[in-house]
Amino acid sequence: MNSRTINSDYLRQAIKLIMKLPNEICTPAWLQTLQLIAQPTKFLETCAAKYGDIFTVRVLGFNSPPLVFFSHPQAISDCFAIPAKQLDFQQATHVFKPLFGESSIVFQDERSHNRQRQLLMPPFHGDRLKNYGQLICEITKNATKNWITGTKISMQKIMPDITLEIILQVIFGINSGVHDQRLNRYLSSLLEDITKPLYSSLFFFPPLQQDFGTWSPWGDFQRRREQIDNLIYAEISARRWQNNAVGTNILSLLMSARDENGQQMTDKELRDQLISLLLLGYETTASVLTWAFYLIHSHPDVKNQLMQELNVLGDTTNPEEIARLPYLNAVCQETLRIYPIALICTPRMVKETVEIIGNKFTSGTVLVPCIYLAHRRFETYPEPQNYQPKRFIQQKFSPYEYLPFGGGYRGCIGAAFSMYEMKLVLATLLTQFQLILADKCPVYPVRRGITIVPSGGVPMIVTKKSAE
Ligand code: HEM
Repeated sequence: MNSRTINSDYLRQAIKLIMKLPNEICTPAWLQTLQLIAQPTKFLETCAAKYGDIFTVRVLGFNSPPLVFFSHPQAISDCFAIPAKQLDFQQATHVFKPLFGESSIVFQDERSHNRQRQLLMPPFHGDRLKNYGQLICEITKNATKNWITGTKISMQKIMPDITLEIILQVIFGINSGVHDQRLNRYLSSLLEDITKPLYSSLFFFPPLQQDFGTWSPWGDFQRRREQIDNLIYAEISARRWQNNAVGTNILSLLMSARDENGQQMTDKELRDQLISLLLLGYETTASVLTWAFYLIHSHPDVKNQLMQELNVLGDTTNPEEIARLPYLNAVCQETLRIYPIALICTPRMVKETVEIIGNKFTSGTVLVPCIYLAHRRFETYPEPQNYQPKRFIQQKFSPYEYLPFGGGYRGCIGAAFSMYEMKLVLATLLTQFQLILADKCPVYPVRRGITIVPSGGVPMIVTKKSAE
């Protein structure tokens, strides 16, 4: 190391010491980490109650940089306006590279990121959504066709089956064949394990990433990922063979895309995009649906109003008509407000000094726009703990007050698609079945991988409507 490096390091440290971070939590970093992992919503609420809209947390595992959480709409707006080149989005997400692959949209920066978004956004938006409406309703009906009156089902188990089947068909554009079913099984079992603390710690502690054969956790992960990859590569190769790169599904679209030099995506690049969309696209929507079923059925007034709206539809299953229902829309929005299954936006590390509501943050600070706390500000949402869909009928909220899908240039590309999907799945099930919560135990939010789900799996008893 030369003296210039030493001096610049020294200078950086000195600046950091002078620039005080807002509301630093003074408990040890290991305790903050533990609380954030074990009881994230409680930890965030406690910090907000004590420190307000902005506070600084230290967690172990990323060289302990300061993590500044903020929830004031102006702070979120300032953060989304920071030019991408001043931020590094990979510091917090790079641990998932072995799963998503390095060509995934999640790990791209600036130009390449922009290009991938332009490619991936259109199939999840606007008129293109209409292509999936009937499919979503059919998959939902098919998944529930064997439900008989008196059956007890766990919403947390059923919803991922439905949303995985939907996303697989939207992405690959094929009806359930042998491949799909195996892919379903492999993906859901891998995701199930990844959410367990031991398995997920593999990603955060690289020394544990040793392949000693199938009996070692990393070896097991590698082989299971390989099984999934083989199925995806087989599908890509079959499409190339059939010269089938046409159609409205995402795989066809990606296969026919060219970059500025006229190059097509390699199989590895295709695989990385597909797996990212699959993994980000189904468990998320399934968790929100599980919350929605719980919240609707634990609030009889909400359920009555929603059923009145749905009953007016009669026998029609026109997806567009369902998607336009105002109260159903409000129910979905309020569910995502009170339990935004992603508690935070992608954390971003400052590369060059930035300013947020008058606070300067130097390089190395990690900025965390906190969705959960933004949605629980009583200045924005009176009685924030109460589930009140009507607030979305009475008022419009800005994208810095209401942001279940994040925002700015990293905002979720599946937002419109998931809202559409949620409405159709809810409407299809609620018009066919009468559901009652089977468990009177209080439900609270628990962590499942990167999402927050209701405790207890939300068991419900089914009554088929035609049998009433
Ligand atoms: C209710 C369901 C969903 C929720 C609540 C959700 C939430 C989020 C959030 C909070 C982010 C981070 C945004 C930010 O940092 O500002 C995100 C990113 C992302 N989501 Fe979703 N998501 C959902 C469904 C989906 C679906 C269905 C897909 C695609 C099939 C998808 C694909 C993505 C991708 C690719 C990104 C990364 C975008 C980028 O880095 O540019 N998500 N999502």
